[in-house]
Amino acid sequence: MILKRNYVAVSTAMFMMGTVAGFSQSIPSLKDAYKKDFGIGTCLNNAQIEERDPATTAFIASQFNMATPENIMKSALLHPKWDTYDFTMGDKLIEFGKKHNIKINGHTLIWHSQLPSFIRGIKSADSIRTFFTDHIKTVAGHYSGKVYSWDVVNEALNEDGTMRKSVFLQYLGDDFVTEAFRLAQQASPKTELYYNDYNNEQPKKRAGCIELVKKIKAAGVRIDGVGIQGHWHVGKVPFKDIEESILQYAALGVKVMFTELDIEVLPRNFQGADVGQRMTANAQSNPYPDALPDSVQQQLASDYENLFKLFLKHKDKVTRVTFWGVNDGDSWLNGWPIRGRTNYPLLFDRKNQPKPAFDKVIALKK
Ligand code: XIL
Repeated sequence: MILKRNYVAVSTAMFMMGTVAGFSQSIPSLKDAYKKDFGIGTCLNNAQIEERDPATTAFIASQFNMATPENIMKSALLHPKWDTYDFTMGDKLIEFGKKHNIKINGHTLIWHSQLPSFIRGIKSADSIRTFFTDHIKTVAGHYSGKVYSWDVVNEALNEDGTMRKSVFLQYLGDDFVTEAFRLAQQASPKTELYYNDYNNEQPKKRAGCIELVKKIKAAGVRIDGVGIQGHWHVGKVPFKDIEESILQYAALGVKVMFTELDIEVLPRNFQGADVGQRMTANAQSNPYPDALPDSVQQQLASDYENLFKLFLKHKDKVTRVTFWGVNDGDSWLNGWPIRGRTNYPLLFDRKNQPKPAFDKVIALKK
């Protein structure tokens, strides 16, 4: 299957007739261009996992060799009731990965957000510990040998590097992160195990993250990598902090990944990706309902180009770059932190056509 600009998917025979009006050059493949450098991933939603649109499936398979479920492996969805697990969608994702040669990163075992609703009724440390232990053992056990890696713990830190006051910290104390890795390692011994967060390229949060990694290792527990989510803002990507973070995390002997990359182009009064944080809409909050102005498009392209230059410079330490969405239309940033906006944070537009940012990223490999 060859994927074309303008034409979503065409057969090889049609490609041979490529002079027919409307055919232009084929879309290069990101995963192929960066094959020798690092994995190229995307998050996947239900429609994509269920292969509802064959052209979309072919497009995903042509561009990505790694994938993270956008929502379906979060505890609220996998573990809806105290004694009920639902692996239906997760299992479909595993099949999708096998069929299309895409490695799956499980996301995520322990996170304070998108928890099952029954958690709110729990008021004892014993019950939280039982949930925590059973959840990790059951889920990591079910997907042992099936997922390539797990985001074992997501977003355990505050901006100042201290531990976030989550239900896990409150009831289990600050060893819960190490315990989560220990349990994941037991349940899924051959799976890579990561800590994942946003803004953990920022110096204070990075320092907290480094302490966590050291603590896990000091306990004799395995951690294979740190994920920097990479929810950044156009014209404000913190390149220096990112480079410093790659170096400092790699110096601990762990892999570095960019796990949820997107670049916000709309007005926002805070940085980061705290899903609990929201903004109120006003007359200025959705400035580009029809198209992205060229000046912003060019800045976005230059930010992506410089990011990939940096990733390539440190390709011995960076093992994966995952975008949080296949195209602009899929992005969660159309709905967060304000619902109903038109956002443009990724490399492909709403029709899976490459944007100038994509061309820049590909050009680095020519
Ligand atoms: C987001 C999803 O994209 C949304 O669909 C969902 O409503 C909320 O979560 N950090 C993470 C991701 O680790 O799981 C979040 O995904 C984005 C921020």
